[in-house]
Amino acid sequence: MLHRLTTQVGIVGAGPAGLLLARLLQVNGIDAIVIENRSREHVIDRVRAGVLEHGTVTLLTALGVGAGVRRGGLRHDGVHISFRGHRHHIDLAGLTDGKGITVYGQNEVVRDLIDARVATGAPLYFEAAHVEVRGLESSPEIRFRHGDDEYEVRCDFIAGCDGFHGICRQAFPEGVLTIYERAYPFGWLGILAEAAPSSDELVYTYHDRGFALFSMRSPTITRLYFQVAPDESIEQWSDHAIWEEMLRRMTTSDGWQPSVGPILQKSVTPMRSFVAAPMRHGRLFLAGDAAHIVPPTGAKGLNLAASDVLVLGRALKGFYQAGRTDWLAEYSETCLRRVWKAQRFSWWMTSTLHRFPDETAFDHQRQLADLDYLTGSRAAMTSLAEQYVGLPFEVPLESAGLPV
Ligand code: FAD
Ligand code: PHB
Repeated sequence: MLHRLTTQVGIVGAGPAGLLLARLLQVNGIDAIVIENRSREHVIDRVRAGVLEHGTVTLLTALGVGAGVRRGGLRHDGVHISFRGHRHHIDLAGLTDGKGITVYGQNEVVRDLIDARVATGAPLYFEAAHVEVRGLESSPEIRFRHGDDEYEVRCDFIAGCDGFHGICRQAFPEGVLTIYERAYPFGWLGILAEAAPSSDELVYTYHDRGFALFSMRSPTITRLYFQVAPDESIEQWSDHAIWEEMLRRMTTSDGWQPSVGPILQKSVTPMRSFVAAPMRHGRLFLAGDAAHIVPPTGAKGLNLAASDVLVLGRALKGFYQAGRTDWLAEYSETCLRRVWKAQRFSWWMTSTLHRFPDETAFDHQRQLADLDYLTGSRAAMTSLAEQYVGLPFEVPLESAGLPV
């Protein structure tokens, strides 16, 4: 059977970008339909980001979906940078007028947003197959199959929130997009372990054998990563070998090391920097990973998805409530200013903290000097702190119809 639906905004993808946008539109009385190709369980169980910037937490709260992060989020006022066997503390709050980060799993953010949407009965389709977008320049339409039924959604605008491998960016006509890209000669092997975190704050480690990162998800779950070859197969790594390598890289001369426990999940992630510009063609707007990817070293991906959505939400509110088209026209340019600053920060964190296969002895000494300078200079630590807790959003929350 063919279902013909009409809405104001058709949203492709129910990751953080799509779900946040749906919520922001709902708060402003704008209709949307969210279409996701994976199952609800898959989307909620996917282990990914963990660090929320100060502004992302404010946004979740203003959207009325902050109860989960207030209850389960771990507020951190500092972070450690470790090299040559020593941990150096960076006082994020002291250097940024009291701002910090909150550790709260991306899957929890997604779960909170899905629960909030489902509770209102607003449309959200999981397991949509053969999703297609058309009519981008004049009358947008999303088609998909759901079970045995076909759907045709007519809308005023399409929000492409379908991640890096989605279909929306691919739907841009040839020649419209400029792609800026850098691949890194390494990936991250990440684990989730049933072990109480042995530090209250994250530890980014530069070690002779390569980068390692100590993070967490809760008072009983530790999240750890280390640098591996980009094509490393996870099957090559026994749990025993993973722990051996984690401890070798992370143990500091004062004896600090992560607590060991059963490994609950493990995977390898490739690293890249990527921007597709402009982020709009006709009535199709890209947001989040659909338009840009950062290497995870700066913990910026999810937070950039949130800032794109704020800019898009404001533009759509301006259009529906005041007939404005200028904010829609400026969408890409406004987003890209913040995207490029986060790209630069993520590239810098990545370049400073990883070993490169083709590096020279000079490069290695320069990296150590970079870290020495960073951890010894208040100016350098302040620069890291203000970027790590998150640069200000490009537009104020009030302009998107949110309370402050
Ligand atoms: P996604 O989360 O990819 O969501 C896109 C959605 O669209 C998905 O649900 C997908 O199934 C769906 N979809 C795809 N194709 C289609 C289609 N054809 N039709 C319908 N739906 C479709 N970021 C941080 O800010 N902090 C961190 O600490 C951090 N750590 C990370 C660690 C790792 C190991 C990784 C891999 C990433 C990390 N990130 C981090 C990045 C962060 O996870 C992403 O930037 C974030 O998921 C982007 O959200 P999104 O909604 O744009 O895209
Ligand atoms: C995480 O907890 O998953 C995490 C933390 C910091 C990063 C990347 C990932 O930079």
